[in-house]
Amino acid sequence: MSSDHHEAVSHSLAVSLLGLGNMGIAVGQTLLKKGHNLTVWNRTPSKAAPLVAEGATLADSPSACIAASDLVILFLLNDSATYDVLQGIQDLSNKTVLNLTSGTPDHVRKRAEYVQGLGASSYLHGAVMVPPGLVGLPDSLTLYSGPRAALESIATITSTLGAAKHVGEDPGAASLLDNALLSIMGGLFEGFVQSLALVGRASLPIDEVDFTSDLVVPLLRGFAGWLPRIAGQVKSKEYGAEVGSTLAMQLEALENIVVTGRELGLSRGMLGSMQETIREAVQRGKGGEGVAGLVGLLTEQ
Ligand SMILES: NC(=O)c1ccc[n+]([C@@H]2O[C@H](COP(=O)([O-])OP(=O)(O)OC[C@H]3O[C@@H](n4cnc5c(N)ncnc54)[C@H](OP(=O)(O)O)[C@@H]3O)[C@@H](O)[C@H]2O)c1
Repeated sequence: MSSDHHEAVSHSLAVSLLGLGNMGIAVGQTLLKKGHNLTVWNRTPSKAAPLVAEGATLADSPSACIAASDLVILFLLNDSATYDVLQGIQDLSNKTVLNLTSGTPDHVRKRAEYVQGLGASSYLHGAVMVPPGLVGLPDSLTLYSGPRAALESIATITSTLGAAKHVGEDPGAASLLDNALLSIMGGLFEGFVQSLALVGRASLPIDEVDFTSDLVVPLLRGFAGWLPRIAGQVKSKEYGAEVGSTLAMQLEALENIVVTGRELGLSRGMLGSMQETIREAVQRGKGGEGVAGLVGLLTEQ
């Protein structure tokens, strides 16, 4: 290990990290770079090589890894993998468990109960909102839920990963917000895929990159300013199409998108679920409402 690669920290901590996929490796590298004392475990041990080369200790079992530190970070594929890894553990006394594995709020609450049942002093959940390449950079954000005092006690570690935001004492809160924010990403990518397919398939004097830089990005900036108004309408349950974009009109617009894709011979169309939802809203007499009315449709019985 070369100490040149390490930045001195005033409070070097012992950390056990289980799960060395793309995210686990990125977190491990960030912790090592800051001089923390890292013990790691992974189902496929060979993946630990880059961290071991930088000074991490490879444990041969989850229990040996957990025994090495009071702070245990889980960064696995999904909740069922987390359960698999914790299954052989008998005792988590005096451990703070930080689970960064994505799941649902119910998964997280059940995992919190499970971990506390093994004596852990606290359970925190974290939702890392950036991909591996951005972990630890100043713009990186992680949402945390669980006991605030426990989060504050590991601030040296969380600050290493980037900005930290505590979003509630309920352990499921970060997961709920994670899924809400990823909904935006899913919807955005769905529309972006459709738009690049339309532009790429057509013979236009503008390519996908110009389309994106010159037209999509400014459009999104404009939309971003519109979102708080829609959210305000949802809050007050006043669903009128205040800027004039009624659901009835949007249904026609979606039909035009679908037919354009068909005319260009796309193998499939995106946005089908949105089209179906707006069609149902219009059939229920909500054609004069704006997009906020769809939230009413989803949430009101
Ligand atoms: N990648 C991203 O952009 C990103 C961003 C934010 C959050 N996340 C979340 O971060 C988590 C990890 O993502 P990732 O990109 O690191 O995934 P990944 O590269 O696929 O790594 C998955 C990790 O889980 C382990 N694993 C899977 N099933 C297991 C099992 N049954 N028992 C033990 N270990 C098991 C894998 O072990 P092996 O190496 O042995 O397969 C590996 O260490 C996910 O919950 C993901 O949703 C990802």
